[in-house]
Amino acid sequence: MISWPPRLSLAQLPTPVTRVERFPDLPDGVEVWIKRDDLTGTEVSGNKVRKLEFNLAEAQQQGCNAVITCGGVQSNHCRATALLGARLGMKVHLLLRGEQPQIPQGNLLLDQLAGAQITFVSEQQWPQHEAMVRELQEKFAAQNDKAYYIPVGASDEVGLWGYIAASEEIAHDIDRLSLQPDYIVVATGSGGTQSGLLVGAKEFSLPGQVVAFNVSDNAAYFKKKVETDVALWKQRYKTDFDLESLTVKTIEGYLGPGYGVATPEIFATIKQLASSNGIILDPVYTGKAFHGMVQELKKGDQGELPGAKQVLFVHTGGLFGVFPQHEHFKFD
Ligand SMILES: Cc1ncc(COP(=O)(O)O)c(C=O)c1O
Repeated sequence: MISWPPRLSLAQLPTPVTRVERFPDLPDGVEVWIKRDDLTGTEVSGNKVRKLEFNLAEAQQQGCNAVITCGGVQSNHCRATALLGARLGMKVHLLLRGEQPQIPQGNLLLDQLAGAQITFVSEQQWPQHEAMVRELQEKFAAQNDKAYYIPVGASDEVGLWGYIAASEEIAHDIDRLSLQPDYIVVATGSGGTQSGLLVGAKEFSLPGQVVAFNVSDNAAYFKKKVETDVALWKQRYKTDFDLESLTVKTIEGYLGPGYGVATPEIFATIKQLASSNGIILDPVYTGKAFHGMVQELKKGDQGELPGAKQVLFVHTGGLFGVFPQHEHFKFD
């Protein structure tokens, strides 16, 4: 029995679920359905707003009027936080990993439009970013402000609730559409979506196995990250969730050259889904996961998704990350 913590209503929910048609690379006899979490909003589109409904509720409950968070220069999470902070009248300070580009594009442009304060943190300085957060919190306090800290990707025990709640929604989708997915597939970057879905799948008895494609790090990293976050969540919210029942499956092999860098095949898959179904994936997260899923489905029972007849892909957004990478798309 779930006892929900405070939650704000910030996302456009429920998101639709649609079947992929005409995608040429899908093997016969396999249905792919997409949970359109890229449609949780226009400016706040994607998975992060589901987590932030819980993190920002906690911030308000603690009497905070400011938020500090961090991520890459093109972080979807930072963009969602910047815009939601503006929506709620909270001050937002972002620590962005990397150099300041000459022209702000994609997510960074929206961060700036939302009026977020931004500090660019070099790769060398990044290991100290949590110390920088504490300094910033002190600066806020000196001005009689109170700043709430949200770690990278809102992937902590609070943000984890976002995809537990999404799992309840998915349970209704599955009922309504009479689906019976063998797998629920998602991209994993900081682990919070994967963790939430794994817990939620158990809590709401979802059919199928939750599997993730990593877009950074490796399977061992996500096993540890998910197990740690779920254990913290269990301890903090005093749930009776059985930690032993957690099976963290992360499929490797589709990260390509590294986080944020995609191969030509991934750009081709993005183009293919856009032109066949009108759905836009992104080169950092969803494009890699969707591409990996299609490759594994093509391998049939020899692949990582054996016995797949029906798959539910959770589209976690990322649209604004397409624009800064426009030069990698090939058009005839
Ligand atoms: C578009 C998109 N998809 C997937 C993810 C991965 O989610 P998580 O960080 O919860 O693993 C992210 C996270 O940054 C994202 O922005």
